[in-house]
Formats: sequence, structure tokens, C-alpha cells
Amino acid sequence: MTDSVTMTPMNYSADRPRAANPVKVQDLSLRDGHQSLFATRGRTEDMIPVAEMMDEIGFWAVETWGGATFDTMHRFLNEDPWERLRALKRHFKKTPFSMLLRAQNLVGYRNYADDVARAFVDRAAENGMDIFRTFDALNDYRNFETVVDQIKKNGKHFQGCMCYSMTEPRMGGEVYNLDYYVGKAKELEAMGADSICVKDMAGLIAPYDAYNLVTALKAAVGAPIHLHSHFTSGMAQMSQLKAIEAGVDIVDTCMTPYAFRTSHPAIEPLVMTLLGTSRDTGFDIRKLAAINEVLEKQILPKYKHLLDDSKISVIDINVLLHQTPGGMLSNLVNQLREMDALDKIDEVYRQLPRVRRELGQVPLVTPTSQIVGVQTVNNVLYDTPDERYRMITAQVKDLCYGLYGKTATPIDPDVRKKALKGYPRGEEPIACRPAEVLEPELEKAKKDVGDLAADMDDLLTYALFPVTGRKFLEWKYGLAEAPASVKPITLEQVKKTDALVKKAKAGELVEKKTGTPAKSGRLRAFNVFIDGECFAVEVDPTGEIPAAVAPLAALSAAPQAAPIAAAPIAAPAPALAAAATVAGTKLAAPMPGLVIRYLKNVGDKVAKGEAVVVLEAMKMENALPAPCDGEIKTIGFKSGDTVAKGAALCVIG
Ligand code: CO
Repeated sequence: MTDSVTMTPMNYSADRPRAANPVKVQDLSLRDGHQSLFATRGRTEDMIPVAEMMDEIGFWAVETWGGATFDTMHRFLNEDPWERLRALKRHFKKTPFSMLLRAQNLVGYRNYADDVARAFVDRAAENGMDIFRTFDALNDYRNFETVVDQIKKNGKHFQGCMCYSMTEPRMGGEVYNLDYYVGKAKELEAMGADSICVKDMAGLIAPYDAYNLVTALKAAVGAPIHLHSHFTSGMAQMSQLKAIEAGVDIVDTCMTPYAFRTSHPAIEPLVMTLLGTSRDTGFDIRKLAAINEVLEKQILPKYKHLLDDSKISVIDINVLLHQTPGGMLSNLVNQLREMDALDKIDEVYRQLPRVRRELGQVPLVTPTSQIVGVQTVNNVLYDTPDERYRMITAQVKDLCYGLYGKTATPIDPDVRKKALKGYPRGEEPIACRPAEVLEPELEKAKKDVGDLAADMDDLLTYALFPVTGRKFLEWKYGLAEAPASVKPITLEQVKKTDALVKKAKAGELVEKKTGTPAKSGRLRAFNVFIDGECFAVEVDPTGEIPAAVAPLAALSAAPQAAPIAAAPIAAPAPALAAAATVAGTKLAAPMPGLVIRYLKNVGDKVAKGEAVVVLEAMKMENALPAPCDGEIKTIGFKSGDTVAKGAALCVIG
């Protein structure tokens, strides 16, 4: 036992004597937990069954919102993010709510204008948010100014984060050393932080570094210190314990089914570890066990298919090797897989540190982790021996312009120059607080979305996510039918699927239908190869086709494109069929993605290399250049459409 943690005789009961200095605990299951393990797909209806039980534990706070939840809910779950806050608040009567706020990026991936930022904080506070855990991907606290002012105006708790990053195998080196973090903590305290969080999003912090860091922070500032460390690399529980010995005030955990892997340490082992010590949490382990029972039996079976079970190991040692967040690594793998280029992964790992250095040694956290990751993939896939940075994402251009803020080290001048060539805001980067160059956005958004936004919450949903936000509002108000893919699954469906899988494994899968139905126009033939043998299989989808795959089907089956019109969101079938048949040079999607907007119309003349369409892939916007000179003959899609790799975005003739 160290000096700071003392033991008293063990007492298992919940009414055991209160510890001298109990560790406070924030639960992350309902935000970071499912974001880390289940692709942020947690539904409100699956949170409510445990809400009242969790409210009884004595958590310092429960994290319920922010991060990727806002995006995922409206995009993939057909849920109103604002409504989740209000719904959960009806069940959590005592425990404060906390959210992850990406400073001026709010819950999106770019800096929004000040008017949007202020309105967002107001509405979050009004809908029930208590603690605003605020971070900026570059640790540039000028990006905090507007939201912090608004958090304070609403009388809410401002938790200031420092993103924990490294360039060496351990804390230290030129950039991210102890002095750097102590300096950041002092900046946060001067801004009025009610607590200060070390945000270790990648699980990089090593136990003895955590001890030294917390010791230094406790000596330097008066605000409570909070440690947020992902389990990814396997060090988090050890780091948490060393931080507790160094006097950390608050730590983050998850309920066991939401814990470990790329998520966080579980609460139950921590309660037992500290039982009877001067830092005893005071939690009743039996109440925690009762919550686990509900989660295990009633909730998590609906999510287990989302768990990445491609690896046996629960720990990602790549994080120890590359000092890179696990989530970012899995994004890279997915992106490469979608482009049939998984064999390039080692080259991506090799180039990543170089690209990061050239882009100013930024911390790797959303959105900078994606910015660096996607650009590295683009470089690996599209660069030639004589030209690097051939396809620069819009976000890298913004970063080079200074739109995200100041990078830890200067951006490589050559890369910056290339990125800003023809950049619409100007070729000279800015040095001021980024939002100062942004025009107010709310009025314009209001005009664009019109009556579709019934209130300020709707308007913000649209202002933050114009393409998917509009789609969501159309579903919400019954102007378009939500596709089957956004509907929840039930426990009964899970049981059916499990039974099928069991049958398949036992070789009993083939079920004969009584009476052979007629083949439809949607029938597709596949060759299935099993252990060197080839089986010819015809697949005929029944029921509705998810909108996401409709354009794909239309392109591959041009003569039978008619059934596509029956898809829930009518894809522009005639134009699509035309795009597939019109003569000329196709601009093919280099990756699967979401069409944000076309920069050219049918009939426009374009020069080779001129940007034609903006395609969002892995949250990054890519302006795709014309493959040749000519005139736009047809346009294959519209804003909001999902496209497959190789889809003909337009034809130039
Ligand atoms: Co996190």
C-alpha cells in the first residue's frame, strides 16, 4: 500500500463506513461504451430498462450523449438525438448527465459558426445536459471560447479535456511531455474549468506515466482531475490504479458488458479492488450485478453481431506499436477492405507517422485521427512515384488553412502550399481563432430547411448534418419512409437468427419452401466457392430493398431496373439507367460513400482535374476530379445517395 491508499478491515455490505476520499466514478456505458464496442448503435429503448437501476449506484455522472451518438442516431437509428436526452432524464432522477462535446466541432466533424455553437449548448442544457466534457482535437483552447462561455451562461459544469497524445513509446519527447500537459491544465484552469480531464482516447497512457502525470497535475492546479483511458492496449486498469494512488479524483468505467476491448475498464473489479480502502467507491456490488443481469440477458444479445469478433485477442497490441487509437486502426482496415486494398495496410502503418508529422503532429482523436488516417490511405492508394498528396481531402485543406486551429508543430510548407492551391477561402493560412472566419450559419440553414424543421432542435439537426439531417427530418415527419435498415431488431429476431446459425453449423440449413415462387426481376446469380468447389446460386431478395443498396442494384441490372422504384426512398432510377448506358468517360466512385453534392450540372464544361462531385467516405469529404476534359452528359446520383465503389457518378463526353 502506498501512503495515499490505506486499508481498513474489509466490509462487504453496502452500508460499510464511507471512505475518507472515495474515488468518484463516471459510467460511460450509454455513450462511449456502445460507441467503442457496438458502432454507437445503442438505442434509447435499450437504455431505459437499466436507467433507474443505474441511477441508484451513486455514479458521479453518467455519460449519455455526444461524441458520435448524435450522428449515428439520426443517420442509422431513425432516432431523434434530442428526444433521447429528454427520455433518459425522466428515468435518471439523481445522477447528473455528461456529454462529450467536440468544442467548436460540437458533435460533428468540422468547426461550426459561433451562432450554431451557442444555440447547440443552449438546447443541450435545456434538454437535460449537466456536464459538458469539452475537448478540441488540436488542444487549441481558442476553440473552447464560445462553447465555454455558453456553458457558463447556462450555469453548467465545464469539464476541460486535454487530449493525451504521444510521439514516443512513453510520455515525453519534444511535443507531448509533462510540461506540455501541465501547461494545458493551467490554461484550462484559467478558462474556469470545473474539472480537468486527461482524455486518453487510444489507451496510450502507461501506468507509471499516469502516476507521474496525475501527481504533477494535482500539484499544479486546484480543479478535480478526471482520467478517461480506453482499455484498447490493455493498460487502462493498471493506469487507473496508479492514477488513484496519485490522487486522481474521478475515473471512467463501463458496466461489464460494455467494457474492455476498445472500450473502458469495468466498474465491478474496481469496486472490489478499492473495497475497504481510503478510496473505496462505496458502491453496492450486488446492485451492479443486477444491472449486468438485465444487460446480458435482455439487451446485449441484440448487439452482439456488431462486436468485432474478427480477432481472438481483446487487446490491440498495434496501439502499443503505433501509438495510434484502436478505432482509427479499425477504420483504416475497413476503408482498405472496402477498396479491395487490404494488402496495403502495412504501407499505411509505415506512412502514417510521416503524414502525421507533415500535418503538424496533431493528436489522434476524432476528427484529426480520421483526417490523418484517410489522407494516409489516399496517399498510399493514389500517389505516384513523382507526386505525393495527389488526392487531398477537403478536411486536410481546412486543416492546412488553419480552420481546425493551431497544430502542435508547424505543417510542412510544401504540403500546405499544395493543399491550399485554389482553396476557396484563400491560399494564405489564417492565424486567428478559426470560428472568426466563419459566417453565421443558422439563418441560412433555416432558409434552406424551411418548414421541415419544426423547432430549434430540428434546425440544429439540419445545421449540423445538412444531408443526413434533412433525410432524418423527412422520416420524422412522414415525408419519406424510413428504410428497413434503420429499424430496431427484437430479441425474437435474434433468437431466430441464432437458431438458423446453429442449424447452418450442423449442416441442416437447407429448408425447402413449399411451392417454388416465380423468379423476380431482382434475381441475381452468384458463384459460391467452398473449399475449392464451385456452387451456382441464384439469390432473389424478398421484401423491400434497403435504400442504401438500391443504386448498386440499378447499375448492375440495367434492363430490370424497374423494381428499384419500389425502394422506400425512390432512387433516381431513370437517370441511373442513363448513366450506365450513355457513352463517354465515367467518373467512377473510387470508394463507397455518400454523395454530398455535385459541383457541376449536366451540360457544364469541365477540364480534366476540375472537381465535379463531393463524396463523403469515412466521414471525410473528397472532391473528386474530372478524369478528362469534356461536357457533363449525365449525373448518376443526387445529394444524400449512398454509392458503391465503382458507381458511375457522372459521364463526361
Ligand atoms: Co473515449
